[in-house]
Amino acid sequence: MSDRTIIRGRLLSFLRKPESASDEGCYRYESDGALIVEGGRIVACGAYADVKDKAPEGTREIDHRPHLLMPGFIDTHLHFPQMQVIGSYAGGLLEWLNTYTFPEERRFADAAHASRIASEFFDELLRNGTTTAVAYCTVHKTSADAYFAESLRRGTLMLGGKVMMDRNAPEGLLDTPEQAYQETKAVIAAWHGRGRNLVAITPRFAITSTPEQMEVARTLTGEFPDLHIQTHLSENHDEIRYTCELFPEAKDYTDIYARYGLLGPKSLFGHAIHLSEREADAMSETRSVAVHCPTSNLFLGSGLFPWRTYERRGKPLRIAVATDVGGGTSYSMLSTMAEAYKIQQLLGERLNPLESFYHMTLGNADALSLSDRIGTLEPGTDADFIVLDAAATPVMKLRMETVSTLTEELFLLQTLGDDRSVIETYVAGKPMKPATSPA
Ligand code: GUN
Ligand code: ZN
Repeated sequence: MSDRTIIRGRLLSFLRKPESASDEGCYRYESDGALIVEGGRIVACGAYADVKDKAPEGTREIDHRPHLLMPGFIDTHLHFPQMQVIGSYAGGLLEWLNTYTFPEERRFADAAHASRIASEFFDELLRNGTTTAVAYCTVHKTSADAYFAESLRRGTLMLGGKVMMDRNAPEGLLDTPEQAYQETKAVIAAWHGRGRNLVAITPRFAITSTPEQMEVARTLTGEFPDLHIQTHLSENHDEIRYTCELFPEAKDYTDIYARYGLLGPKSLFGHAIHLSEREADAMSETRSVAVHCPTSNLFLGSGLFPWRTYERRGKPLRIAVATDVGGGTSYSMLSTMAEAYKIQQLLGERLNPLESFYHMTLGNADALSLSDRIGTLEPGTDADFIVLDAAATPVMKLRMETVSTLTEELFLLQTLGDDRSVIETYVAGKPMKPATSPA
């Protein structure tokens, strides 16, 4: 039997990157719009009056008016094993990693623990309207198995990888180059393309991989050229100094990854805050992606991401946005963009609300080279979308009384919104938002 459904609401979907706060041509908005969803895909999108004629009389209908319906949020960098690390008190990145994060990640050798946290993690993503995420698991294959199994159960399009790390971390959190190779291959064989899952090659960062393991990353990239690569780059000055000491032959931090063939259009570099002109050129020339993690960069005191500098240079950078939980302090992409906005304020720049919502959806999909599948409401794409209420709390409801434009509404959602503003999260056409209060 057909599961065809009409879903009605105020539709918003981006068509391209906004050029200004008043760029009305960059999005499609329908004040009374609807989608037809069938078999996990969007089959029609437009004004309700037009769309309803495309479905037979009696088709099931869900009415979300007056709420906004838009593509699900995409989080391009976070760590699923850090759910019990978020909000840990530390001076900076390396202290935070060594004191809290590494000890905690050792627990993911235990399959039962990994499964429990994976389930909590997916609940939290969907509660916040995030329908696609790119996650680091731990060094243990069990953690990647737990992550992808949970994603398969929920029907989500998720990316992730078993972390490769063979030095500068405690016993119980290290693999070897050979193990990293075999286990990454095993994770790819088990999970890549199964359901909607995609595996990413995941050397944690240059500090925790020996040159031999970096060679393994290169080999895997050669064997699986379609896979994404994720790692960390240029997050904090102590980290940069230490990294460059470990690879004295490299010109700079970015050059370490370049020497192992890890730059490219499917390479996601978390943070990338303090890049030199030479490094930014190398990133741009290879179409590598700089992933901005605002709440994390503020929380760990890592630095202010020079978004406009990267964007305006002769060789601009591709930019994605992400929470970086548990260095990041919120699972909400709304809160994440609220902090991204404040960082640009501190730099004397403006990030307009259209840009923010573009980046959380189509922009991040483009950065992942997945905009043919997610990040839009275009017919033929996957039916991952969310329903947002800009008057979800008493404070927001009162403020909404003075809002008169779509851009103002978006800015309010970004500034004051969180999981409470997410009324529903649809994954492959099915409502999947879990309850908000703990059981
Ligand atoms: N660099 C290497 N590992 C990590 C991590 O887990 N979090 C952050 N923020 N930076 C890292
Ligand atoms: Zn990270």
